[in-house]
Amino acid sequence: MLKKTFGTMATALALASILSASTQATAVDGFDTTQHSLTAANSPWVVVNKKHPLNPIQYVPANLVTPKQFNGGGLRLAKPAADAFLKLALAGKAAGVGSISIASGYRSYTRQVAVHAEDVRKFGLIAGEKLAARPGFSEHQTGLAIDVWAPTQGCRIRVCFSTTKAGKWLKANAWKYGFIIRYPDGSYPITGYQFEPWHIRFVGSELTTKMHSTGETILERFWEYPASPKY
Ligand code: DAL
Ligand code: ZN
Repeated sequence: MLKKTFGTMATALALASILSASTQATAVDGFDTTQHSLTAANSPWVVVNKKHPLNPIQYVPANLVTPKQFNGGGLRLAKPAADAFLKLALAGKAAGVGSISIASGYRSYTRQVAVHAEDVRKFGLIAGEKLAARPGFSEHQTGLAIDVWAPTQGCRIRVCFSTTKAGKWLKANAWKYGFIIRYPDGSYPITGYQFEPWHIRFVGSELTTKMHSTGETILERFWEYPASPKY
């Protein structure tokens, strides 16, 4: 997406000859592509996948908080994700789709060792690694990813969450609160993960608005990162 838009933009700018070279390099239709790092672990735009682990690998966010609502398990999130999640959950409640709640939030490197080992034990290496990241390679370690469910609607961390009232509302509305469904249906060849309708990732509403307007749903494709189905 970006290259094509850059090309059109660059041509327009060259003809108009009114903007500086630095603006040409960073702005796409008024969207500043350099306002956040794609690699710093504490950046809302950090891309974490099977080719891009956290740096440092045992990164711990400095801004973890424990949301007081929609969080029966007392789980932690990075503050920007927590603030946005509260708005999302309140909006879901007001829309009548129940209490969208945190099933999993921040997971430390050590916690991910156990999550990964458990899924590999249950499903085998190939299927297990379509579901759980290796430690150091999980977005949950940034504090910006949340697994959600609506306790009265079941389907906790299961694909059938997508058929619940909460799951349908989340798919249509998460972007308004700065979240993407990080592993949409059919994205395995790019992301390396199965459909996870419950896993939302905070990237901020500026980016989600841009992604929504372009119709792009996958972070790797938006940033023109190579597909990363394998380590
Ligand atoms: N379930 C996602 C891919 C994780 O383990 O981070
Ligand atoms: Zn998740």
